[in-house]
Amino acid sequence: MRNRIDVLHGVNFDQLRRRDPELYGGMGLPELEVRVKKFARELDLEVTFWQTNHEGEYCESLHIASERADGLLLNPGAWSHYSWAIRDALELTGIPAVEVHLSAVDEREEWRRQSVIRDLCVGSVQGKGLEGYREALELLKAAL
Ligand code: DQA
Repeated sequence: MRNRIDVLHGVNFDQLRRRDPELYGGMGLPELEVRVKKFARELDLEVTFWQTNHEGEYCESLHIASERADGLLLNPGAWSHYSWAIRDALELTGIPAVEVHLSAVDEREEWRRQSVIRDLCVGSVQGKGLEGYREALELLKAAL
């Protein structure tokens, strides 16, 4: 059974607790991680969490992702909308990925409606807050 999932959060997620609670739920990243770990356990998946504010580091993590994980749950934050470097790195991974956003990016500002990674992912979930991570893990599990 292939079940190791890397959950990769991008820029500003270390500040999650300070961000708009209407959009992001008011929790901190450690709290989100505890909850997602519980979802994963229920689905018999093993999750590892990682976050960076540096785009190149995010790319480097994708470069070696297949050495550690069988699947990826990605929330690159604002990079999702414009980082062609992250898209290129994701293309190299060779393992399934699901994109997740806490907020409904397609219903917010125009610039958030583009995702440069979506078509490389086996699924995409947005606007469902923390619960969206459960759905994203389910999609990923189905793809493994
Ligand atoms: C986000 C949505 C992005 O547009 C934003 O820049 C984030 C968070 C989300 O989870 O809703 O940092 O990825």
